[in-house]
Amino acid sequence: MRLDRSTMSKPYDPKDFYFRQAKKAGYRARSAFKIDEILKKHPILKKGEAVLDLGAAPGGFLQILADVVGEQGLAVGVDLEEIRRLPKPWVKTAVVDLLAPTALDQLRMLHDGPYDLVTSDMAPKTIGIKVTDEARSLELCRMALSVAEQTLRHGGAFVTKIFVGGDFPIFRKELQGRFEKVHIVRPAATREHSYECFLVGLGYRFGKQVPARGREKKD
Ligand SMILES: C[S@@+](CC[C@H](N)C(=O)[O-])C[C@H]1O[C@@H](n2cnc3c(N)ncnc32)[C@H](O)[C@@H]1O
Repeated sequence: MRLDRSTMSKPYDPKDFYFRQAKKAGYRARSAFKIDEILKKHPILKKGEAVLDLGAAPGGFLQILADVVGEQGLAVGVDLEEIRRLPKPWVKTAVVDLLAPTALDQLRMLHDGPYDLVTSDMAPKTIGIKVTDEARSLELCRMALSVAEQTLRHGGAFVTKIFVGGDFPIFRKELQGRFEKVHIVRPAATREHSYECFLVGLGYRFGKQVPARGREKKD
């Protein structure tokens, strides 16, 4: 879907604009536009591939990811909250607390991997105290990275939301050690006053060597 800001009333309010656009397009959340923009900037997911989406409720990211991989692919979404079913047989969802010690076992039961892409839009419940919110966001990022390290194929990609501040540069360095390239993206659909952005890791240096295309059907 193409977004034309020229049709918007002034003053420009990104919340209302993307909220309305999401409703119009049938997306469950404005964040659908964020992953769409990231995938347009960095084509890290193709038809027939497997993607794992962490913190996936209500399912905006998942709608976009499922459309990209199509019926020959696999899109798995997990969250603390139940994710309303997507009517596509190649989409699997489950309730998983990624901070629980059983999380990885639960993920393996959904699909043994490896994945081509792991995304995380996980966010803590913010309390408005910047250092605390940043620390909680970083804890979720580290958990997402740990899941990615255990489920990505060699050469795969990782996308995570992170609050900028505090240990952000340290975490970015951690990613740089594990991925060939790391980019920062702040999608247009991000709320104006939010200090979130996305780190995009391309070319996972470790993981299982499997051909990037033409793999047998996952699952
Ligand atoms: C911004 S929302 C995700 C929106 C989603 N990407 C979409 O497009 O619909 C952040 C999500 O992170 C989830 N979350 C936070 N902590 C989590 C945890 N420990 N395990 C799993 N999910 C978690 C929340 O339940 C929430 O649904």
